[in-house]
Amino acid sequence: MALSDFDLVFFGGSGDLAMRKLLPAMYARDVANDLPVSARIICVGREDMSQEDFLQMVETNSKPHIKESVDEQAWQKFLQRITWVAVDAVNLQSYAGLVEALRKDEQLTRVYYLATPPSLFARICDNLAASGLATANSRVVLEKPLGRDLESAKQINADVGKVFAESQIYRIDHYLGKETVQNLLALRFGNILFEPLWRREWISDVQITIAEKIGVGNRLGYYDNSGALRDMLQNHLLQLLCIVAMEPPTSIAPDAVRDSKLQVLRSLKRFTPTTLAQNIVRGQYRSGYVDGQPVPGYRDEPGAPKQSKTETFVAMKAEIDTWRWAGVPFYLRTGKRMADRLAEIVVRFKPIPHSIFNQPTSSFQPNSLVIRLQPDEGLSLNLMSKTPGDGMRLKQAELELDFREQFKAPRMEAYERLLMDVLRGQLTLFMRGDELEAAWEWVEPILDYWEQDDTSPVPYSSGTWGPAASSALIGRDGLQWREEA
Ligand code: BG6
Repeated sequence: MALSDFDLVFFGGSGDLAMRKLLPAMYARDVANDLPVSARIICVGREDMSQEDFLQMVETNSKPHIKESVDEQAWQKFLQRITWVAVDAVNLQSYAGLVEALRKDEQLTRVYYLATPPSLFARICDNLAASGLATANSRVVLEKPLGRDLESAKQINADVGKVFAESQIYRIDHYLGKETVQNLLALRFGNILFEPLWRREWISDVQITIAEKIGVGNRLGYYDNSGALRDMLQNHLLQLLCIVAMEPPTSIAPDAVRDSKLQVLRSLKRFTPTTLAQNIVRGQYRSGYVDGQPVPGYRDEPGAPKQSKTETFVAMKAEIDTWRWAGVPFYLRTGKRMADRLAEIVVRFKPIPHSIFNQPTSSFQPNSLVIRLQPDEGLSLNLMSKTPGDGMRLKQAELELDFREQFKAPRMEAYERLLMDVLRGQLTLFMRGDELEAAWEWVEPILDYWEQDDTSPVPYSSGTWGPAASSALIGRDGLQWREEA
């Protein structure tokens, strides 16, 4: 569907996200001829700089983040779409420049992308409204962190909701923009094969892992107040869990999908202090080697408090109390400075009930479906197969679907897809306010418990798969994380 003309405003327009992700994503769509000729990008920030200075900044800070080689002519054309406007987000008077810069046409789509700290959301929305800029054709995009607990998330929803209707609010979780996440929807609801098996009778357990090799980098100020549970689990991992576990929505329409996801979040078994201590492991990286290079421990990162209790790793066993999933463990795991960078979902099916072959049942690996999001995107279905040659020996074999190989289509970054969806007015891949609150509501007892708990996260060496307690957590159920099997 061709896009209609738009003014896209990036608050935090000179910031890291705009430079690293948002502008490169818009350039990629421009080169692909997806943007209307007269569409414009207005970058807004506090700095008092000229248009030339800003374009120079884009040249230096954003252009290097473009993955494909840059076509100079297309790049110059792209730069012409960009206008820099200095606005102090908290100062109403300073919005005059923005009023001036925006086109007044009611037919035009207007998007305000708030790539700013959430503490500014309320003021920005109020000031947009007071400046007459929150019009019916406006949409607002909210970047994480969307709160640090239930109360602050509710506050964000209330503040933004005062100015914009829910149908105008796009809460970003960039994991939902990844190709494989949508492919999971295609797999589950575009095929007849899986749905009958997608339940407790046939599935024994599900593992969801997002492992990173990078450490905290230069984000310590944010991260030390956040930690892996808030930074990754409350949002990205729970969103993946929702897509895996949700009931078939009646259509791909935003509220149909979001209702199904919400139901999962509301059915997650609540942790009590006792179950929490047994089913959640938090870790913090120490020094070690990643890709053969020595790296410092978290507490030795520049600026880190020496006694920091912030977790950089979390693993847990979650359960969903529904007829479909009762008793099926969902093992969730994420961490920084781990042995490898990968994001994957592993759905393991039950073992066969009886062996007719001259091999014990225990030698049959249960079928499993591995859905890979990163680093490459694909699916593998593990099946038992006869080994070639004489005799009847069965061994595990893989049916492999490599999306890139199969479709030979250029890859689209998550932010490209999500920005295009915002511009199209397509809300399916964005969290609704009640989903956000339900996710925080479930996570909050864990945060509270850790808050008053005297113990620290368990240390693990950088370049490993996390603390031994994480292997023990899943090992207690007679299982192993896929990478450790
Ligand atoms: C972000 C987190 O949301 O996701 C970061 O704040 C993390 O800490 C990043 O590194 C991971 O995203 P991706 O797409 O690189 O897996």
